[in-house]
Amino acid sequence: MVKLQFHGHSCWQVSSANHSVLIDPFLTGNPLADVGPEAFKELDAIIVTHGHGDHTGDAETIAKNTGALIVSNFEIANYFIAKGCEAHPMHIGGGHTFPFGHVKFTIAHHGSTGPDGEPLGNPMGVVLTMDRQKVYHAGDTGLFYDMKLIAEMNGPLDAALLPIGDNFTMGIDDAVKAAELLGAGLTIPMHYSTFDLIAADPEEFTGKVEANGGKAAVVAPGGSYSL
Ligand code: NI
Ligand code: MN
Repeated sequence: MVKLQFHGHSCWQVSSANHSVLIDPFLTGNPLADVGPEAFKELDAIIVTHGHGDHTGDAETIAKNTGALIVSNFEIANYFIAKGCEAHPMHIGGGHTFPFGHVKFTIAHHGSTGPDGEPLGNPMGVVLTMDRQKVYHAGDTGLFYDMKLIAEMNGPLDAALLPIGDNFTMGIDDAVKAAELLGAGLTIPMHYSTFDLIAADPEEFTGKVEANGGKAAVVAPGGSYSL
């Protein structure tokens, strides 16, 4: 069994019986975060999808507190290694098996400068497999038709975590199409209503996914869903 815990914005903790991985740990400065960086004691890895501050967030602090391995693209991995963290560099299209599970990075259509404008490679999505459950975290992205290929080559996906907040990423209607292309067992919205600029109604999204024949659920910050 794999547990998905939502910490607000795009931050998810994915845990199996013996392992736990954090994705995009933006907690400090995130008005929706249910925990702070000090909450994490034992963590295998921190996956960072791209360089923007609302995704790199507290990765350095949490990595240093827990000894967790940062897993990201080559540029972001080197950025954190220069800060004294342990990191494993990968890139789009590459997969690697770690003690906690398997990581495969996918494309995402977005930017990836760092918190201070550093060029940090290309943005990514990730298919994380733990305990035979496959979870796709789209990162920040617009809609793209190759989501179908991501599902075809890496699926069937048990869960898809999709941004719906519009402005910087897909809005609701594009994300509904994304859910259709991915065909995951369950689709959960993220990256909405953290700030006014990305305000969105997650129930509108899940209603539209279900009307389109999919299965979707809203997980509130601090909430979780077991696959
Ligand atoms: Ni971004
Ligand atoms: Mn973002």
